[in-house]
Amino acid sequence: MCGIVGITAEKPFSVKGELILALKKLEYRGYDSAGFATTEGVYDKEVGSIDVLESRINPKLKTTTGIAHTRWATHGGVTRVNAHPHFDSEKGLFIVHNGIIENYAQLKAQLEERGYKFITKTDTEVIVNYLHEKMKTMSPRQAILSFFKDAKGTYAVVFFRKGEKTLYAFKKDSPLCLGICDGEMILASDIYAFSHKTTRTVFFEDYELAEVTPNNYQFYNRSGKLDKKPVEIEWEREPVMKRRFKHFMLKEIYEQPVAAQRLIRSLRTTQSHRVKQISKMIKGAKRILFLACGTSYHASLIGAYLLSRLGYEAHAVIASEFENFSVIDNKTLVFAVSQSGETMDVISVLKDIKHYKPKIVAIVNYPYSTVHRMADNYIEIMAGQEICVAATKTFTNTLIAMYELARVLGNHISLDRIPAKIKEVISKNDLRVRKLAKKLSNNKDIFVLGHRISYPIAREVALKLKEISYIHAEGMMAGELKHGTIALVEPGVPVIGLIHETNRERMESALQEVEAHGADVYTIGNSSKQFELPKRLNEEEYSIAATIIGHLLSYYIARNNNLPIDKPRNLAKSVTVK
Ligand code: AGP
Repeated sequence: MCGIVGITAEKPFSVKGELILALKKLEYRGYDSAGFATTEGVYDKEVGSIDVLESRINPKLKTTTGIAHTRWATHGGVTRVNAHPHFDSEKGLFIVHNGIIENYAQLKAQLEERGYKFITKTDTEVIVNYLHEKMKTMSPRQAILSFFKDAKGTYAVVFFRKGEKTLYAFKKDSPLCLGICDGEMILASDIYAFSHKTTRTVFFEDYELAEVTPNNYQFYNRSGKLDKKPVEIEWEREPVMKRRFKHFMLKEIYEQPVAAQRLIRSLRTTQSHRVKQISKMIKGAKRILFLACGTSYHASLIGAYLLSRLGYEAHAVIASEFENFSVIDNKTLVFAVSQSGETMDVISVLKDIKHYKPKIVAIVNYPYSTVHRMADNYIEIMAGQEICVAATKTFTNTLIAMYELARVLGNHISLDRIPAKIKEVISKNDLRVRKLAKKLSNNKDIFVLGHRISYPIAREVALKLKEISYIHAEGMMAGELKHGTIALVEPGVPVIGLIHETNRERMESALQEVEAHGADVYTIGNSSKQFELPKRLNEEEYSIAATIIGHLLSYYIARNNNLPIDKPRNLAKSVTVK
């Protein structure tokens, strides 16, 4: 799971100002090491964020053709030598790769038998040596076609031969697209890498390759030449900056009233026809399955909750276990929920279930993403680009999309008050959250309990406490506590209860139980001693309010402990490997 970029241009461009700038827009995909190479054979790579690499690049360094990579290690530790680009022993072929070559050990052994030496522990070095060997007797295109036959796994690859202006690119499963500018072409893992330069994009499909020069491109698949026309992308023009905020996470929490308003407006105008079509699809389905991971799974649980309450058979299933825990046929409607639209666990299920012919609806933040393009219909959640690895505003907007669907299907929900309520929750509670965060910053465990709509929220808050604050947290159903987990509750352990009028009785009884065992109980609800919620929130508004307080709590705990909030250890924004 990495970000890759390749640029080839008529006129020389600045490596720092163009190549590294584009790479930085992909840093959310991985940030444990980075590197670049130019057609002149100049290259550098380093462990750490792109800033570390960038600080070493001569501002005067220019090239016409270059590739760059930001890494999230899968095969081979985080070391300088394992960072990309990789090259053959003569440094004539430079390559960047996103994905995993599953049969790399077998390919490596074959290449070693034929005299190839390996200096890294990566699977990518196998690709470069494989292509190098094939290109002794074949054209680059034929070498790639042969790679399609011999390699197993996932890959998006860009490479060039030293001294040439042509970039070669190909992919299977991992995302890759081409941005077309005047006298310049940009290959990248996603469209944001070139959003500042062009709206014209061509997406690669699996087993496609392209030969790209500054003024031209030609696509091929295994059957021959393809005539692929660019599509025009509509960009969100607003530059992505932290502004007055210390971290993107805080900025992204604070901009939720605007993001929510933008989505609500679009659900009633430009997206309203799709909402109607999707609600018809729900009515016509035998069962509805939500397919997602992480935070998107928590939003999916709420989707399943809403539809179940309306009388539909609906379940949320985590993508990596989807096939083991669900029944699927051509009367099934699958909601693929993924803010990035590039999560490999989700994509691979969509591929695997294709032969059952279910209908697929995508709920994504990134239009044109792979999940979007694999679906029959979609809702765009319009949260704007989310930079922090932790999902915050995209979670809220996914919930809003679900609430609108439920409303159209007959649930008495009004979305109108949501943006104002979010604003009120933030302004009334920011200081209160900071106070509690100080108290909880040194805790090793935190339990978060919910019931009905607040059960998925409890899981979501616990996930954020883990990924941002590095505190072991369990988010669970209040009623399930007494079936085992309560054994872990000892004097002084913090337990946060998510209480709304609709779940008060069950929640209070669970909280009394843990209090009896000495837990420190905190609540997010109307009678909370720690927080002040707007009066008379309905269940749906409450779910968003409680989430925002929980997200802020994990943020301020992490801030107290000087943790790398926007880029937590071992994580990446978009998990593009299985
Ligand atoms: C959220 O805070 C996490 N970083 C993670 O769980 C994320 O939600 C998950 O990887 C799914 O991502 P997606 O929505 O882009 O598919």
